[in-house]
Amino acid sequence: MNRRPRRNRQSEVIRNLVQENTVGVNDLIYPIFIIEGQNQRVEISSMPGINRFSIDTLLEEIAACVALGIKSFAPFASIPDQLKDKYATESHNPDGLYTRALREIKKNFPEVALFSDVAMDPYSSDGHDGIVENGEILNDETLEVLGKMALAQAQAGADVVAPSDMMDGRVGHIRRVLDENGFHKVGIMSYSAKYASAFYGPFRDALSSAPKMGDKKTYQMNPANSREALIEAELDVAEGADFLMVKPALAYLDIIKLLRDNTSLPIAGYNVSGEYAMVKAAAERGWVDGEKAMLEGLVSIKRAGADIILSYFAKEFGQYLKK
Ligand code: PBG
Repeated sequence: MNRRPRRNRQSEVIRNLVQENTVGVNDLIYPIFIIEGQNQRVEISSMPGINRFSIDTLLEEIAACVALGIKSFAPFASIPDQLKDKYATESHNPDGLYTRALREIKKNFPEVALFSDVAMDPYSSDGHDGIVENGEILNDETLEVLGKMALAQAQAGADVVAPSDMMDGRVGHIRRVLDENGFHKVGIMSYSAKYASAFYGPFRDALSSAPKMGDKKTYQMNPANSREALIEAELDVAEGADFLMVKPALAYLDIIKLLRDNTSLPIAGYNVSGEYAMVKAAAERGWVDGEKAMLEGLVSIKRAGADIILSYFAKEFGQYLKK
């Protein structure tokens, strides 16, 4: 045997030298959940370790993350049912919970980057990412709402707006609205390949945003498809996206790789709520080592070709690096 691959695995120093991929705090975006009120910190039962915060406690949480080096955040708001309607009007209220939270975060932490969520579902009485009429999700009418939402978020201090709705033409529409209003510096992270996934369950619990009727299969992608991801990515590039995203990440590593090999923009993988919950649930039962599973999942997303990872593990990973 003149070739012995084990030679390069024989000591930790050599293993570290030949390590091809690493994850650092600079690669991570931490999704955070916001609720109305004061001094609130309510754990999400299907996501152990993840809370919904009122704005005051959220600022403390962000301070703790910044101390760990986590400086990018993707906020999501949990809106009371009384404020939801067919047109998600609350989503572009300049004094709504979400826009207030963005302003407060930016005021207290000007150095952080905020990736705001553009989609109707947390504000929609139908629980859909578009306007529902006679059981159908209307595309072009929804774009109007998304444009208003993105503008309200830019005005409140979002660095990058992130449309997660999967309507056709939304990146181009949002780009135009932002530019017409002087926000040419605000970027767009497009959820390019977002699949109709069972792994969003805990997130929908967190925001009470599950569809009231039907499913999201007329706009989110079929998990069986990959070429379709290229079509979506090409459109997003043409329409002016600054970042592409694949979601979920772990069940779709091949899609991350496909976009990496065929496009030049930075790519983010969203390690979604259900992927987080599975690791936590198995670790609680002692069936897997939760910390090792976290590290393996995160580095796999980098190895597949992602530059950026959105993950509920971000803070825990920061704590792991500190110890
Ligand atoms: C909806 C949205 C979803 C997530 C982010 N934005 C859920 C959905 O499409 O129903 C899921 C994130 C996660 O599961 O962590 N606009």
